[in-house]
Order: sequence, then C-alpha cells, then structure tokens
Amino acid sequence: MTKQLQLKFLLAKNPLILAPLAGFTDLPFRLLCRRYGAALCYTEMISSHGLVYDKKKTLQMTRTVVEERPVALQLFGADPEIMGEAAAIVSAMDIDLIDINMGCPVKKVVKKGAGAALMKNPKLAGAIISRVRHKTSLPVTVKIRTGWSHDSILAPEFAMMAEDLGADGIAVHGRTWSQGFGGKIDWQTIARVKDCVSIPVIGNGNITSYQEAFAFLEKVGCDGVMIGRSALGNPWVFDPAGTPATLAGRMEGLAQHLQLIRMYSDPDKILARTKNHAGRYFKSITGGSSIRRQIYAASSFQALMELTQSW
Ligand SMILES: Cc1cc2nc3c(=O)[nH]c(=O)nc-3n(C[C@H](O)[C@H](O)[C@H](O)COP(=O)(O)O)c2cc1C
Repeated sequence: MTKQLQLKFLLAKNPLILAPLAGFTDLPFRLLCRRYGAALCYTEMISSHGLVYDKKKTLQMTRTVVEERPVALQLFGADPEIMGEAAAIVSAMDIDLIDINMGCPVKKVVKKGAGAALMKNPKLAGAIISRVRHKTSLPVTVKIRTGWSHDSILAPEFAMMAEDLGADGIAVHGRTWSQGFGGKIDWQTIARVKDCVSIPVIGNGNITSYQEAFAFLEKVGCDGVMIGRSALGNPWVFDPAGTPATLAGRMEGLAQHLQLIRMYSDPDKILARTKNHAGRYFKSITGGSSIRRQIYAASSFQALMELTQSW
C-alpha cells in the first residue's frame, strides 16, 4: 500500500507533491497534476504584502476549487507581522496548508530579505514562523534549501528551529542558495534533517519519474517528495504508467490541460503562459519540434485548441 503523508490534520493520500513553481503552478495545472496522481499541490509563491494590501492580482492567485483539495498555499515575505496577517487571511479561504518560502534564490525576492535570504537570518526566520503559527490553525510547512553555500549547511538546525516554533512539516530542496537550480542534490543533508526532527520531511530536487520518487523516499527515508520542473509538460511524473511514448499520448495530456485552462482562467489573457506550458509536452520526442513550432506560432488560445483537436 502506498504510504500516506500526514501534515497535522491534513492527510495526503500518497507522498507525491507538486512543488511551488512561480509562473506555472496555477489552478489549471494543479488540477491536472491532481488528476494524474499528485496528492497535494502547492501554489506559486504568493506575496504576503499583496494579500494584506488586497492586491487584485495577488488575490486571483489564491483561487481554488473543491476538486483540487487539499491544496497548499505558499507565502513569501520578510515582515513577521505582514506574514502573520497574510496567514490569517489565508486561513479564512478554502486552503488546507500554508507554506513559508525560505528557499527562493531569485534576486528581487532575496534583496528584500525574503526567500532564501531568511536562511542567513535565523532570528527573522524564526519570528516569521512564530507569527504565522500564531495566526493560523492550518498545517504549516517551511520550504528551505540545504543552506547558503556548501560551507554553510544549515538545514538541520533550521528544521529543528521550525519544529520548535510549531511547524508541521519541512520541505528541503537539496541544494544551497549558491547552487541555484543546478548541480547535485545533497540527499545526505535531507536525510540528516529527517534524523533531527520528528515532523514530516519532504525531500525535493531533480526527481524525474514516479519510480525515482519512490526510490528517493526509500533511500533518504523522508516522508514525502516534491516534484517541480519534471512535472512541467509532464503530469505523468505522478503516474506509475509514466510519460506516453507517442505524440498522440502527449497531445491527450495537453488537451486536458487546455480544457482546464479554458474552464478556470481567461485563456487569451494568459496565452504566453499557456504556450510555455504547451511546448513542454513535446520535449524529447521524435516529431516534437514541429509541434512546438506550431504551438509558438499560434495566435490565439482557440488556435491551440484546434491543434490538439486535429490529432
Ligand atoms: C520556474 C521555477 C519557479 C519556482 N518557483 C518557486 C516558488 O514560487 N516557490 C518555491 O519555494 N520554489 C520555487 N521554485 C523551486 C522549486 O519549487 C523546486 O524547489 C526546485 O525547482 C527543485 O525541484 P525540481 O528539481 O523538482 O524542479 C521554482 C523553481 C523554478 C524552476
């Protein structure tokens, strides 16, 4: 029987989680990944300021529907009060878990003291976790990296601090800030985190298939596994049957994705984002480059729909 993942009172039916990916893990894509087997999906990082100051665009990012529950919403920010207020706002929404972003290496986030910068500032990180914990009864996870650079591996201490302050789970991307998104995954540090805390640990980094995910869980001994880039254009990463080998099989996945986009968003407003998703379905497959060209040349959402219907 597949192992379930318990995060406070949230019971995920299996340990496979869609990672937060800014620009990608919107409602349609999360629904698609749930359909293919992900037990829990994380939203893109959502600005705590945007929520507290009622910014329309930020609020739109919080949209969810009952079919995707449970769903996790990731907050980012560097001000404990604002993060707490944002957590309170989220708690009144149909959201099942709040995650705190402490791993994002992007300059405009780090410059403001948020994301991975919090790993350099444990005092502020602790204040944020405490405030969020105080303002919500939802399960709270904290997503961190292994550290700032290879000579400052901080994840075990950080995870212990988060547990002491009331976090219900820790997600660890097995890279340092200075590695960005490349280089080897330090699974030994993830295993060390698991040894140091009693809350569930979710490992993350470079998992490319369902089978790899379960092998990783076994090797590292963690409780859940989060998959990011390998899910893009490939929701089958959550499916034991794996990615279809044929263009028609891939087209069927894209058709489902486009239907969800049509149902849950304003498709012509997000055409660039949709093409970015769509092209990825045809990577590493014979005949894929010609389809990708047709996707990038499409002048409307309707044209993309017609492309899938002509198959
Ligand atoms: C395009 C992109 C956007 C990302 N956005 C977020 C984000 O919003 N919040 C976050 O915590 N991590 C974010 N990440 C990091 C991923 O969640 C994940 O930790 C990382 O990609 C490693 O996992 P993977 O190798 O399975 O992709 C992002 C990564 C990428 C490539």
